[in-house]
Amino acid sequence: MPQCLISGAAFEPFLSFGEMPVANAFSDPARPEDPFRFELEVGFCPESKMVQLTRLVDETRMFHDHYAFYSSTSAGMARHFEAFAASVRAGLGGEDPFVVEIGSNDGILLRHFADAGLRHLGVEPSANVAEAARARGVNTISRFFDEDAARAIAAEHGPADAVLGANVMCHIPYLHSVLEGVKRLLKPGGVLVFEDPYVGDIVRKTSFDQIYDEHVFYFSLASVSHLAAMHGLAVVDVARQDVHGGSMRYTLAREGERPVAPSVPALAAEEEAAGLHRPETYARFAREVQRVREELPALLRRLRAEGKRVTGYGATSKSTTVTNFCGITPDLVEYITDTTPGKQGMLSPGARIPVVSPRAFAEDPPEYALLFAWNHAAEILAKEKTFREEGGRFITYVPRVEIL
Ligand code: SAH
Ligand code: TMP
Repeated sequence: MPQCLISGAAFEPFLSFGEMPVANAFSDPARPEDPFRFELEVGFCPESKMVQLTRLVDETRMFHDHYAFYSSTSAGMARHFEAFAASVRAGLGGEDPFVVEIGSNDGILLRHFADAGLRHLGVEPSANVAEAARARGVNTISRFFDEDAARAIAAEHGPADAVLGANVMCHIPYLHSVLEGVKRLLKPGGVLVFEDPYVGDIVRKTSFDQIYDEHVFYFSLASVSHLAAMHGLAVVDVARQDVHGGSMRYTLAREGERPVAPSVPALAAEEEAAGLHRPETYARFAREVQRVREELPALLRRLRAEGKRVTGYGATSKSTTVTNFCGITPDLVEYITDTTPGKQGMLSPGARIPVVSPRAFAEDPPEYALLFAWNHAAEILAKEKTFREEGGRFITYVPRVEIL
């Protein structure tokens, strides 16, 4: 049985997806694909309450000098991070504050601190996206954040008022080292503010495509509180975020240094009611996932039999789980359109579906577009008005398989 990365206790997996490629390993059609595969499987530890992968992919296989995901490809996310920066800045006091971000990618969040002339540092191991951040004036070091990195940062820059992270804490298997490092780096009264996809939303929406190699953990308040307490930290505030299909922002401080906001016990009660503490909840989720796995390819095969063309929209990391788990290959989805230049002209991992530019989609639109980037639905549906007005339809599978 696998062992919990937080508590060390043995736990049972509740859902297996089979062999998967690395979710962001887009490949050049002229070269053979990297044959690396791993068993994608998730389980729930009743002791730490943490939902997590049972097998890990080495981080240097996922985060390197050609990491495919650039944060700044969505206008909606740019607005989200502008607001995130404003809320952090509003809480900064004292002279010459210093803010550190873990997993700062292309600087989508820290640019607002850089533009305001505030002391900041991004810690971003993927060298290509780190370079994009530097190019727009965001101070960035290229390394994995852990306790050693925190020590080095504190020695060079002094203690931090705030340590931030978005969609990165859930990527890091060695969270004990990360939290020790954060504790060491923070000033007295300093805060760790991070947000990640929320397991409550994943369960409620059956958004199983959040499960892939990079996402080691699927957090709840219960699991984050358990982890925090192991390090003398406490969750002092929580706030839902309407991004990535439903995220939660957690604010942590050293125990006793800050008052606990009413949002914390309120969410704890909600999680109790939703059954996020119980293995049965995840068993039920696994059954719902199997239903989507049957219904989605069945719909695609039916459309295909009717002679309709279907393409994909958004070559997301999430789409790698969907295509490979549901058996969606280029005979069912002709191509996937994506705005990221580095993904265009490549093949999707495993399923080997060609990725094309939005222009190719506009010039040769299909009858149906399978919305892999469903978390950006509002932005995309607004942008693709013409496609829809001319009779094009979007297909989703979250929270259920349907034609929009
Ligand atoms: N914060 C951005 C990027 C999220 S993608 C956003 O929300 O859009 C996750 C990022 O975390 C990647 O850029 C990856 O290179 C980085 N990362 C992965 N492991 C890390 C670690 N241990 N320390 C710091 N960054 C890490
Ligand atoms: P994400 O779901 O991890 O944020 O990834 C979104 C992907 O979708 C990314 O590769 C960019 C792409 N995308 C588009 O192609 N068109 C769009 O309008 C948006 C918002 C994203």
